[in-house]
Amino acid sequence: MKTLLLLFQLIIFCSAPALAGAAKKAPAEENAQKLIEVLGCMGCHKIKGVGGSLAIDLTLVGNGKSEEQIRAQLTIDPASRKKGFMPNYQSLPEKDLRQISTYLYNLK
Ligand code: HEC
Repeated sequence: MKTLLLLFQLIIFCSAPALAGAAKKAPAEENAQKLIEVLGCMGCHKIKGVGGSLAIDLTLVGNGKSEEQIRAQLTIDPASRKKGFMPNYQSLPEKDLRQISTYLYNLK
């Protein structure tokens, strides 16, 4: 009986890190969410029901655009846009631009 109990404890002990890992978000995803919040994207865009209505809802943007096309949208010169009021995020490090576009692409 005691051995059985020990065995159970061992199984729980060993599977705990795996369970914790599954619940935890990847750092890149977490960083992308933080960036989107700090940069104010949701002042204009809705993401999963939260945000403004000045621009297109980004929740399903990955259905119509590749990751690369989403990335490109972040650094377009506002003057060459149809609706020119989206800011240009050219000053962000490439790593951040990638994390944002990967995150948005995978929302779909
Ligand atoms: C001031 C309002 C505003 C803010 C802030 C803003 N956007 Fe936009 N965004 C727009 C508008 C307007 C368009 C449409 C531009 C056009 O017509 O070319 C757009 C287009 C886009 C598109 C292309 C969508 C599509 O399917 O054509 C993406 C992707 C996007 N924004 C992502 C972002 C991200 C990410 C942020 C934050 C880093 C952000 N936007 C911040 C207004 C905004």
